[in-house]
Amino acid sequence: MDKIVIRGGARLTGTIKVAGAKNAALPILASSLLAEGTSTFKNVPKLNDVSTMAKLLARLGCEVDHARHTVSVTAPSAKRAHLEAPYDLVKTMRASVLVLGPLLARYGRARVSLPGGCAIGARPIDQHLKGLEAMGARVKLSHGYVECSAKRLKGARIVLDIPTVTGCENLMMAAALAKGHTIIENAAREPEVEELGHVLVKMGARVEGAGTHIIQIEGSDSLQAVEHAILPDRIEAGTFMVAAAVTRGDVLVENTRPEHLDAVISKLRAAGVSVTSEKGGLRVRHSGALAPVDITTQPYPGFPTDMQAQMMVLATVAGGQSVIKEAIFENRYMHVPELVRMGADIHVDGRVAVVRGVPKISGATVMATDLRASASLVLAGLVASGETEVLRVYHLDRGYEKIERRLSKLGANIKRVKA
Ligand code: EPU
Repeated sequence: MDKIVIRGGARLTGTIKVAGAKNAALPILASSLLAEGTSTFKNVPKLNDVSTMAKLLARLGCEVDHARHTVSVTAPSAKRAHLEAPYDLVKTMRASVLVLGPLLARYGRARVSLPGGCAIGARPIDQHLKGLEAMGARVKLSHGYVECSAKRLKGARIVLDIPTVTGCENLMMAAALAKGHTIIENAAREPEVEELGHVLVKMGARVEGAGTHIIQIEGSDSLQAVEHAILPDRIEAGTFMVAAAVTRGDVLVENTRPEHLDAVISKLRAAGVSVTSEKGGLRVRHSGALAPVDITTQPYPGFPTDMQAQMMVLATVAGGQSVIKEAIFENRYMHVPELVRMGADIHVDGRVAVVRGVPKISGATVMATDLRASASLVLAGLVASGETEVLRVYHLDRGYEKIERRLSKLGANIKRVKA
């Protein structure tokens, strides 16, 4: 397996361009199942998760053309569709469950392997299923699969217990081809949900309120293929912003939507980091000491759980004590023991991590079991003295495109060593 080797201490300077958003690309690719004709998506990040979704769509019978940052998908006719998302793909990527809503709505049936728990928590899909049942689907669990069927879904009022992101996306896609009106209350407000709403509207669906707590959808009898460019990845942008801050750098993070980064920007500023909007992006500069920051992760527009691990690295090298609370997932601190091995002073009690800033951390061989935890170890390697080896790079490749090449252009001493 490849590893990333970093020699810490370089100050990052220059310009880095943010790629398309993984968590927008995945549901949007799945939404192509709803449309007749060939949908083409641009600015699609080249990531393992995107390849897995492309593979899954191909297994379902779609024609998929994947070239650089453009993906075209033609959904199959009912006769040629294969309505099963198998275990081998769902186990590598939970977001495979996003095909459930569109398959059921378009073809009347779907069989999807249950994702089960994962490295960051139990992550059930009960809210997805509750919504589909409210729309008239028969739902059966057997042999580790969820099987759903409905001649035609019917619009319904669905009140989510939790504003689940992929749950909301699944239900929006299902509702887009259901008969009648659907209201999703306590909906997720993430920009990726809003973006899916834009795509469904382009397909001809009537969607209102995507990006707010209440989404209303008037189902259509059929939807048409679209062309759409994926919005920039706010988590990738945030990761690069923290990289600039912890290395006392000066970096222009290009291709960002600053309005999607309010919570991250405000915590960086609280740490004493300068973040300014400039033509083309956000400029992040820092010199001197970092102040500690308290963070509680929350659904959007609160502080994103997907930035918790990266901000913990900043807290690790700040002057003072930070308190971090992970309120979304119950087990998202796998980076902590690895950061501690590098010299961090972090104590976790349940969902709360108390981080006492240390004057320096030192390089070590580390590995993590999920994407954002791995990103935090790369950030730690950039500030640590000496050499850090980050193992299990495939986690990073799920969510960051060629991260080592892009960071090395900013002056980082970082390389990938092929196995
Ligand atoms: N939950 C339930 N029941 C459900 C659905 C969710 O109890 O039916 C719980 C989850 O277990 C979790 C909380 O609700 O505790 C929130 O989970 P959510 O469903 O919102 O997460 P997700 O849709 O599975 C997406 C992102 C994650 C991101 C979370 C939270 C995609 C493909 N994934 O996951 O991204 O952390 O929202 O914002 O959009 C990542 O990119 O590294 C990543 C993990």
